[in-house]
Amino acid sequence: MAKKSVSKHKRAHAKKRRIEIEIRQMTLEDLPEVWRLSEKIFTPSQLQFTYRTWNVNELLSLFQEDPELCLVAEDVASKRVVGFALGTILKRPFSPWTYGYFVWAGVKRMRRRQGVGKRLYRELEKRFKEKGARIAIVDVEGTNTAGMRFMEKLGFKQSQTYIWYSKLLE
Ligand SMILES: CC(C)(COP(=O)(O)OP(=O)(O)OC[C@H]1O[C@@H](n2cnc3c(N)ncnc32)[C@H](O)[C@@H]1OP(=O)(O)O)[C@@H](O)C(=O)NCCC(=O)NCCS
Repeated sequence: MAKKSVSKHKRAHAKKRRIEIEIRQMTLEDLPEVWRLSEKIFTPSQLQFTYRTWNVNELLSLFQEDPELCLVAEDVASKRVVGFALGTILKRPFSPWTYGYFVWAGVKRMRRRQGVGKRLYRELEKRFKEKGARIAIVDVEGTNTAGMRFMEKLGFKQSQTYIWYSKLLE
């Protein structure tokens, strides 16, 4: 019994062991894999509103709008996508301000808390700056504690509470 639990522990540890990750721009070929991964991350039980607002058109339109702001984290050995970060530039006509909107991010469960999300965002922020953004913005579901801690760690400060209302339409 004890032996079984030790080997189980070893297996979990081996799976979680740090791997070499490359952060790179998303390509057309990555889209199906990113979509499949996102479906495992944005689930109705864990991220209800995120799940409701996320859809394949969102992914496609952000990619079409500016592929330079769509990034993936790839496991160098297996070539599998383990995370993604999607952003866009918001610019109002006649306004001097350009915002970098960090719209979506997800990291495969097994690869979380290994700095993958942070590396994805750092690269995205670099690209925001190159495109003239002076402020980065992001929104996170109020129940998503991990997401909130993550954004705070990236240097975001809470500036406004955004409340989602829902109404059952009969
Ligand atoms: C949020 C998310 C992208 C973070 O990815 P990640 O690769 O695990 O993040 P990192 O390892 O780079 O974490 C950076 C820091 O953020 C904070 N953080 C991340 N996850 C956290 C958690 N679950 N609890 C507390 N703090 C957390 C920590 O300060 C962490 O640094 P540390 O590990 O040195 O303490 C990932 O948890 C995820 O995919 N969540 C589900 C989807 C989601 O919520 N997306 C964001 C809104 S669209």
